[in-house]
Amino acid sequence: ASRKFFVGGNWKMNGDKKCLGELITSMNGAKVPANTEVVCGAPSIYLDFVRQKLDAKIGVAAQNCYKVAKGAFTGEISPAMIKDCGANWVILGHSERRHIFGESDELIGQKVAHALSEGLGVIACIGEKLDEREAGITDKVVFDQTKAIADNVKDWCKVVLAYEPVWAIGTGKTATPQQAQEVHEKLRCWLKTHVSEPVSQSTRIIYGGSVTGANCKDLACQPDVDGFLVGGASLKPEFLDIIQAKN
Ligand code: G3H
Repeated sequence: ASRKFFVGGNWKMNGDKKCLGELITSMNGAKVPANTEVVCGAPSIYLDFVRQKLDAKIGVAAQNCYKVAKGAFTGEISPAMIKDCGANWVILGHSERRHIFGESDELIGQKVAHALSEGLGVIACIGEKLDEREAGITDKVVFDQTKAIADNVKDWCKVVLAYEPVWAIGTGKTATPQQAQEVHEKLRCWLKTHVSEPVSQSTRIIYGGSVTGANCKDLACQPDVDGFLVGGASLKPEFLDIIQAKN
């Protein structure tokens, strides 16, 4: 299977026009390897600004969206609006959406279905909490989350599955390459059983959680790790090193 390596940056609720402008300037000067796709997740209010400044070799993602095209949903944005700003991706089901804002598997599934129907690429996030890992239910948690997403996907070519163990997000406690590989392999197997063999082979499964310039290469050489979703380090110069992880 030739899965193009996928490096996503998730800026979360960080930055302003000045510092994001500087980050963009440095990214525009970066070399993106031919075997790697790079996408940056910008705060929704800056999607238009970022898309206008960032070189076309790098994609832009929103960090969330709503499940319908328009209407009386104060504070929400639609996939149509994201596309109107020139961005082609959306991050859905991020652990912060699930655990700080209480998004359910059902809502995330509805968002995935609508975003795909509007033609956006979806970075769909899953991952267990520390107590779930310690209770030995990691597989069940990530399979249930994956099912709620998969039930809403007809065409997998625009879906990237992001495995982000919650205990590794923003903590500096990166999953070991073996821990990441173990879950990624199981997720690929789940896709084979519950979707299809071709989808299991072609779908990128990326890892997120304290990825840095220093640990990215060891993670990237695992056979089922097809890229990263990078939070904190995506705002730093080392993101340029992470883009080169598979080079
Ligand atoms: O979406 C990105 C993840 O939440 C990882 O964040 O790299 O700061 O741990 P982090």
